Amino acid sequence: MKILALCGSLRSESLNAAVLRSAADLFVPPWELTIEPDLGRLPFFNADVEETALPEIVAELRARVGASDGMLIATPEYAHGTSGVLKNALEWLVGGGEIAAKPVALASASPAITGGDRARAWLTETLTVMGASVLPDSLRIPQATRKVRDGHITDEPTLKELRELLDDLAVAVAGIREKEGTPTA
Ligand SMILES: Cc1cc2nc3c(=O)[nH]c(=O)nc-3n(C[C@H](O)[C@H](O)[C@H](O)COP(=O)(O)O)c2cc1C
Repeated sequence: MKILALCGSLRSESLNAAVLRSAADLFVPPWELTIEPDLGRLPFFNADVEETALPEIVAELRARVGASDGMLIATPEYAHGTSGVLKNALEWLVGGGEIAAKPVALASASPAITGGDRARAWLTETLTVMGASVLPDSLRIPQATRKVRDGHITDEPTLKELRELLDDLAVAVAGIREKEGTPTA
């Protein structure tokens, strides 16, 4: 099972990047989780460019999304929404269609007590309209600065919730493979 992870934050000390690193730690071969490198390198979405000369970096992202069995997205909350960098990446993915029917698990980590609820709601709306199969349960991590150290989650209850989210994702991927008649690795 190949999971592609996207992080909505470019910050070096990002709490959301820590969520993805901790998720990668929980994967054992042959299952793998790859964290998509720096979404900030993508150009701003432009429909003219998409039609005339799709940037290679976008084609590569679309190919990695297409090759994945499922996705894990960790988003910060900025001004009650997701980040511009993540929205931009999703805009490039609309036209490719690779995300359609893809199981997607969502997480948000925030220093606030609300745990990024509004960012996840916003993201759910966008991903749903793109045809993704967003998992009904997502992971909210409020007061996340207390739960992350050295770029990884250290809070046991949060790690347990993360494991549960990844289990849900595995079940969703297995369901899709069963429908397609592909054996689950
Ligand atoms: C421009 C800006 C807007 C923000 N808006 C919100 C917000 O609406 N709600 C919230 O809970 N946190 C908000 N925050 C705090 C972020 O959630 C916090 O910086 C978080 O750590 C960012 O995620 P990261 O650690 O993955 O980079 C905002 C931060 C910035 C810089």
